[in-house]
Amino acid sequence: AAAATPLLEAPAHAARSPASPAAQGGSFPQGFVWGTATAAYQVEGAANLGGRGKSIWDTFSHIPGKVANGDTGDVSADQYHRFKEDIALMRDLGVKGYRFSVSWTRIFPDGLATGNPNAEGLGYYQRLVDALREASIEPYCTLFHWDLPQALEDKGGWQNRDTAQHFADYAAVVGSKLSDRVSHFMTTNEIRSFTELGYANGVHAPGLKLDAQGVAQVKHHGVLAHGLAVQALRAHARPGTMIGLAENPAAATPVIPDAANIHAAEAALREENAPFLTAIFEGRYTERYLAQLGGSAPKFTDAEMKAISSPLDFVGLNIYNPMYIKAADTPAGYTVVHPSPTYPRMASPWLTVGPEALYWVPLLVGRTWQPRAIYITENGASAADLMTPHGEVLDIDRAMFLRNYLNQLQRSITDGAPVKGYFVWSLLDNFEWADGYDKRFGIVYVDYKTQKRTPKLSAHLYRNIVMQNRIV
Ligand code: NOJ
Repeated sequence: AAAATPLLEAPAHAARSPASPAAQGGSFPQGFVWGTATAAYQVEGAANLGGRGKSIWDTFSHIPGKVANGDTGDVSADQYHRFKEDIALMRDLGVKGYRFSVSWTRIFPDGLATGNPNAEGLGYYQRLVDALREASIEPYCTLFHWDLPQALEDKGGWQNRDTAQHFADYAAVVGSKLSDRVSHFMTTNEIRSFTELGYANGVHAPGLKLDAQGVAQVKHHGVLAHGLAVQALRAHARPGTMIGLAENPAAATPVIPDAANIHAAEAALREENAPFLTAIFEGRYTERYLAQLGGSAPKFTDAEMKAISSPLDFVGLNIYNPMYIKAADTPAGYTVVHPSPTYPRMASPWLTVGPEALYWVPLLVGRTWQPRAIYITENGASAADLMTPHGEVLDIDRAMFLRNYLNQLQRSITDGAPVKGYFVWSLLDNFEWADGYDKRFGIVYVDYKTQKRTPKLSAHLYRNIVMQNRIV
């Protein structure tokens, strides 16, 4: 309980009189990076153009029954051809950062970084980042957002340790070619999601349901890929390049903010993220994680754990639904409280609304692991958007979601969380994986028949927040 007290004290710099700006919503720090985020397979389209090779998502989305309505990313929002228009939209929003991902198979169609990279693929990303810079928007580049080369999946994919090395080799090439104009790289996106959904539940590509040992080994290869890629980027990217990852930690949030529950949430943050951020920051798996797996624990070496915990310049957090944690008299010291059927949710059933996750997670991550910097690399909401006869999308639910989450983020920073930027997911409606185009996350509406973009009400709200650097 003693350890939790600093969070309970009002910070000296945030005296809260009703007249203070903090009490009325509050400002963000000067230079705070406001941005938007997307990922290659979700927005690019042009799946068969420019010498791009097949990824596991091309294969998976074309298997009947795997994606809602049989949707695929073949055309999607066609950002490959429309990136200039999308950059103009971002300029109108006033954002200063764009988080996008590179499609591995545009650079190396069969995944192997032997021989020269595909000039057409590389050229696309060079043109994209040049156009961003011209618009004074800083590119934040993710190297792996789930679109594993199919040729590597055919050799075992993330079950095969070699995939981690192939990823690092690819990262080295992209780092050496783009770091003259990209200063922030993220290795992997959401290791938790692509390993669990792809190799344990089978609802995402490649659609496997491995046993416990298989899943644990896949997770180990995921964090190893991240670590080897950090080392490859340090060796091949321009000196001074900022290197991190984007991960979705179990968003441990105390059920109520008293000392015992805050303490429990801290314990849960480490344990519930044991194979991911905990391994990455601490260089070892927790004893509880290994004991629980028993004979199914991953096989690993000391050298691998050292690579996995390579120092980072920042950590990116994707934060959506809270994981409510209650202090309990159990060996771990906590229990997870699951939301009841009446708990508020957005259009995606998993997206329970818990704005205070954006208060607690950055604070607890900051205090537990002391990262040099935190970016919120994703946060946003799916909603059943309707176009009015006047051509407007008045998404008051998404606007409410964003305002509430951002209020909590502002409080978090005021109370000491080292958060340097925020990227709303997403700039555009896009291919929401197994949900296809059914679930819309954009602050800009996409009419997939015409590719017309229409900023929603939430985009106008976001623009106001960005322009004033405070909650409005
Ligand atoms: C996490 C993923 O990184 C992104 O690809 C996905 O669309 C959003 N969250 C929403 O589910």
